[in-house]
Amino acid sequence: MTAVTATARWAASQKVGQTLRTPRAAVTVAKQPTGFARAFHGSAATFRATVPKSALGRGLAATRRGFVTAGLVVGTLAGSAYLWDSRAAIYPYVVMPALRLFDAEDTHAFSIQLAKWGLVPRDTSRDQPEPALETKLWGKTVVNPLGLAAGYDKNGEAIDAMYGLGFGLVEVGSITPAPQPGNPRPRVFRLPEEKACINRYGFNSQGHEATRQRLVDRFWRKAIANQPGTDDETTAAAQVPVEQQYRSGVPGRLLGINLGKNTNSPQDSYDDYVRGVQAFGALADYLVVNVSCPNTPGQRDQQKGDKLEQLLKQVVSERDQLEGHRPPLVVKISPDLSEAELTQIAQASLKARVDGIIVSNTTTQRPRGLHASSAVLHERGGLSGPPVQDLSLQALKTVYRLTRGEIPLIGCGGIGSGADALRFARAGASAVQIYTSMSYDGPGVPRRIKDEVVQLLEGQKWSSVVGKDA
Ligand SMILES: Cc1cc2nc3c(=O)[nH]c(=O)nc-3n(C[C@H](O)[C@H](O)[C@H](O)COP(=O)(O)O)c2cc1C
Repeated sequence: MTAVTATARWAASQKVGQTLRTPRAAVTVAKQPTGFARAFHGSAATFRATVPKSALGRGLAATRRGFVTAGLVVGTLAGSAYLWDSRAAIYPYVVMPALRLFDAEDTHAFSIQLAKWGLVPRDTSRDQPEPALETKLWGKTVVNPLGLAAGYDKNGEAIDAMYGLGFGLVEVGSITPAPQPGNPRPRVFRLPEEKACINRYGFNSQGHEATRQRLVDRFWRKAIANQPGTDDETTAAAQVPVEQQYRSGVPGRLLGINLGKNTNSPQDSYDDYVRGVQAFGALADYLVVNVSCPNTPGQRDQQKGDKLEQLLKQVVSERDQLEGHRPPLVVKISPDLSEAELTQIAQASLKARVDGIIVSNTTTQRPRGLHASSAVLHERGGLSGPPVQDLSLQALKTVYRLTRGEIPLIGCGGIGSGADALRFARAGASAVQIYTSMSYDGPGVPRRIKDEVVQLLEGQKWSSVVGKDA
């Protein structure tokens, strides 16, 4: 009799639940199997006792290892494919709420780092043609009219990750001539009840030089990559006529560069914008003169009347002196302007021959009925997200009417759904931009908005509804 069966018989003679003392260990006797189970146990025990342990052990262990490895590989691939898709539900329902446990500015900086390293999901169908969304802006075909608004990628570090999320336009900046740290922290505040945000970053920027160098390096990388068989810069650029080139380096997608002003520059000076045109003109599909930042003292005053016309004329004239590529020039305005002020802006823009207007930046107002704590509501800064939407839409409709549809308008302010985007299109926006909605609902927002727009258009094209409700 083998040692195994002897031990089993001895154990079977004990009462269930009784603790046995053996020389090696204390063992509690389990209920013994009966009938088929007993026969099976017996045969398994006999099998184990008779088959040489090394051969059986090696075979089973190898099979188990194989299953575990295959499981891990399949699991990792499936998990990565899931996480790689910006539509994965884990982003709005798990990742974004978890990130909201941390400081808003730290989360912003962390997401930029991830984007720099390419560790962000993608709109997996971003390259499939979407005829309903395709549109034209300043003579160039754009795959879709959805843009990332300025302020997220202030230093041009995450451009390709943002195109990967499916945006047709990505706007970097605002960029100031000299580097500056912006306002002291804390300077970004969430209003989760409203999915809104108050910020007073105050143009924290790495400055023209550092950002320009980054954009120049990226431009050449793209120019070379887009010209197979070419590995030198001059021929790569020369092969495509300058006005047909997408300065974004991604056909069908536009790169906007938003120009800001240093806090300590003279309030009336246009110099910072003029320098911005010189530094970034060659690199942009469109340039933005941002005169609507609520966090830089005196800046919003530059939106007023004669001052704005002078400023716009200067930057347009500077743009016209650029050699080769001359990007469209767009002015970005606040949603807090009266009808009279909007009239002046519309007239100044047409007179100075700017190429478009972005309506709008954040608001300094605190519309009634907000649910955030009064401490947060009293924070100084610009409010963004849904509470700004009505103000932006109203301003957009007015500007569209005043400019008579002569120049493209870009709508921005609280857009978080396809219905919102279409409301802006019908009010006169040829394209729209988002920021705050993505900071709440995550990287799938651009894809979701595009899908919703296509569905709501019911076979029409985006461009055919622009200005329909203005
Ligand atoms: C944190 C933050 C920083 C911003 N920084 C800038 C900026 O540097 N330049 C600019 O023109 N707009 C800036 N904006 C304004 C946005 O581009 C956009 O006009 C505004 O937020 C309204 O859109 P939204 O409601 O979709 O966010 C910023 C907005 C936020 C929330």
